[in-house]
Amino acid sequence: MTTGLDGRSVIVTGAGSGIGRAAALAFAAEGARVLVADLNEEGARAVVEEIEKTGGTALAVTGDLSEQAVVDRVAQTAVERFGGVDVLVNNAGIMDRMSALADVSDAEWERVLRVNLTAPFLLTRAVLPHMLAAGRGAVVNTASEAGLRGSAAGAAYTASKHGVVGLTKNLAVMYRGQGIRANAIAPGGTATGMVPDVDGEAHGPRALGPYFGNVGRISTPEEQAAAIVFLASDAASNISGVVLPVDNGWSAV
Ligand code: NAI
Repeated sequence: MTTGLDGRSVIVTGAGSGIGRAAALAFAAEGARVLVADLNEEGARAVVEEIEKTGGTALAVTGDLSEQAVVDRVAQTAVERFGGVDVLVNNAGIMDRMSALADVSDAEWERVLRVNLTAPFLLTRAVLPHMLAAGRGAVVNTASEAGLRGSAAGAAYTASKHGVVGLTKNLAVMYRGQGIRANAIAPGGTATGMVPDVDGEAHGPRALGPYFGNVGRISTPEEQAAAIVFLASDAASNISGVVLPVDNGWSAV
């Protein structure tokens, strides 16, 4: 099985830590050139250094991906420095406060939707013309267990990740004749820095409590990264519109 990723140009967002970091390292190990995009400058630079130390090629673009100017800079840099974009991984995301709908503030709703759903839309829109011109491209979005079910997070995060699933499937259908594939992973609980800022007594967590028992074994970031790399690779050349749970069977319960 060949991944075909050697020499390919790959953008990974949220690559300064957690799942994105593991994906950036895994793509680099396959010989891909990796653009590490993250809000966290220190984390992004550390990942670039880590890749360069092993003889790989990487560069960092830092900033808030919910801003159009940052999105444009990411796409432009990949095109200028790597000659195009073969793979886009929309992985950056933030958790909500596990708030039930009536407790979601405007600010929480706007921020979570903006980072988790609008930012992937903006970056995909910026990158797509380059993929279409090349006649090929693979997009992999990091959705969530919360994109599959209603019992894994608060209202804002759940809505945003269901949105990511819809965006992925629509992209797959609309561009299926033009060499573009779009897939998503749906991670279950994964050992990263992401933790919800939760008040355990609040209505959201209290209401979800009874459904959390079947979560299963917590995943490593590397297990999520392996699924991302597979979906981006030539090994998945006829797979598009799929949402792949990486969750120790949680979604099957
Ligand atoms: P993480 O917090 O370790 O990594 C997220 C990265 O995204 C961070 O480096 C952060 O700086 C970056 N980021 C956040 N907002 C950004 C913005 N506006 N612009 C640019 N970069 C930004 O968390 P993790 O777990 O690696 O999260 C990656 C993805 O996995 C997210 O989309 C998350 O929703 C998803 N996920 C995580 C699960 C878990 O249990 N850890 C479960 C299901 C999904």
